[in-house]
Amino acid sequence: MATELIVKTSAATPKKTAVLVLLAPEGLKLGPMATGVVDAGGLDLGRLSKAGGFTGRPGTDLVVISPEGIDADRLVVVGTGATPRKADAPAARRFLDCGAAVVRRLTAARASRAAVVLDTPDFDVRAVGDFVAGMKLRHYQFDKYRKKSPDDDTGPEPPKRLTVTVHVPDKRAADQAIADRDAVTHGVLLARDLVNEPANALGPVEFAAAADKLADLGVEVETLTESQLRRRGMGALLAVAAGSGRPARVVVMQWRGGPKKNPPVAFVGKGVVFDTGGISIKPARSMEEMKGDMGGAAAVTGLMKTLALRKAKLNAVGVIGLVENMPDGNATRPGDIVTSMSGQTIEIVNTDAEGRLVLADALWYTRERFAPQAMINLATLTGAIMVALGTEYAGLFSNDDKLAQWLTEAGEVSGDKVWRMPLSTAFDKLINSRFADMKNVGARWGGASTAAQFLKRFVRDVPWAHLDIAGTAFGGPPTETNQSWASGFGVALLDRLVRDHYEG
Ligand code: BES
Ligand code: MN
Ligand code: ZN
Repeated sequence: MATELIVKTSAATPKKTAVLVLLAPEGLKLGPMATGVVDAGGLDLGRLSKAGGFTGRPGTDLVVISPEGIDADRLVVVGTGATPRKADAPAARRFLDCGAAVVRRLTAARASRAAVVLDTPDFDVRAVGDFVAGMKLRHYQFDKYRKKSPDDDTGPEPPKRLTVTVHVPDKRAADQAIADRDAVTHGVLLARDLVNEPANALGPVEFAAAADKLADLGVEVETLTESQLRRRGMGALLAVAAGSGRPARVVVMQWRGGPKKNPPVAFVGKGVVFDTGGISIKPARSMEEMKGDMGGAAAVTGLMKTLALRKAKLNAVGVIGLVENMPDGNATRPGDIVTSMSGQTIEIVNTDAEGRLVLADALWYTRERFAPQAMINLATLTGAIMVALGTEYAGLFSNDDKLAQWLTEAGEVSGDKVWRMPLSTAFDKLINSRFADMKNVGARWGGASTAAQFLKRFVRDVPWAHLDIAGTAFGGPPTETNQSWASGFGVALLDRLVRDHYEG
């Protein structure tokens, strides 16, 4: 039903095709291959652009139907904007957006075949990888449960297949750049798939099975069952799963791509497959969105896939805590006191503040077992971070200024942006309990920070960062590179971080 996207590369000048796409920066200076195509067709691009008001600004285009002298039904010239001075952050995303914009136009035209000439003078071979990644990210749709296309009644059937041939000066280099970027794209799309999947199809056991597939790529995957979790003393994580008919799982994924002696970088994810709130039940409105409350675990799983696909040169571990937060006769009650794996006791005042309980044990387990050189967790943790940062930035909390700086930079380059928020002993006071070592909620205000401060008690002095992705993992407005509900936020960010600071 959905159109399949097939991308090919060629070093030859394009021949007959349905849609021929050329790229033009501001100033309309084309590359040699594109110039050849235009000249062979006898087109006066300057005149056409003037008549069509086309300047090469990003987002604008020039469409010529049945261009004389060119063997295509239509010619589309897409603007790529001004050439950046240096390879700065927006530059890295420029061709990603451009690839996405091309797929947007091809989809709207119901094209089944297209040729894109990628040789503008400011186009290096890495940009080919970005361009193709943008095409694939834009093209992604989660429609496995749709029997009927939404535009069945409104327009012609979309084609079964869209084959795009990308014409480049150096095919070998382009293929390599595409393969390198594909590793990240596949990780992002896996994360999106997991987040989009409804909770009736994706419980803890099913999620663990999905993670287990990474074994095919050389990732060592272990799944801890509920009795194993109990034996290890994970009382906080298990308290969240108590009210669900489906048992909890913790999955450990190890990628050993670095020297044996190097301690790993650890990634830890909140994997609440559905968050009803438990006995502190949530209002009905928008509760269906809580199928995405495993967005942190999805990002960790997607990242491990990316690292394995591109054979990253580091040791990395991914640990995900998979539970369902439901209210039944066995459910945890407000006021219950549990003992975490660390030995610290927690008064559960609100069963809807469950993510920090899952992470408390997952973080402690990771630090005890792996003594990682750095530990980064991702979690759709608080509504409060959405109030603060909206859907544009994830909240970043860290006990390490260097790590925080690196993540902020990786965010700008990857487009998965993060904004640092405060940790402080002042927040600790808010989570002191009358009855236990701590309680799982603070006061009315500063909810994202009290949650982060809670996590810090299970990390201690390991260099650590917590990313609160409640606003960025799903539900944001559609963008040029993502038309789906789930975003896959975090995979590109952490891949960038690893490339820049933990490899080689
Ligand atoms: N999963 C939610 C946070 C969330 C809300 C994520 C909306 C994505 C979208 C989390 O478990 C939660 O319920 N947090 C509570 C904490 C409160 C009870 C202290 C919240 O933010 O309201
Ligand atoms: Mn909750
Ligand atoms: Zn939650």
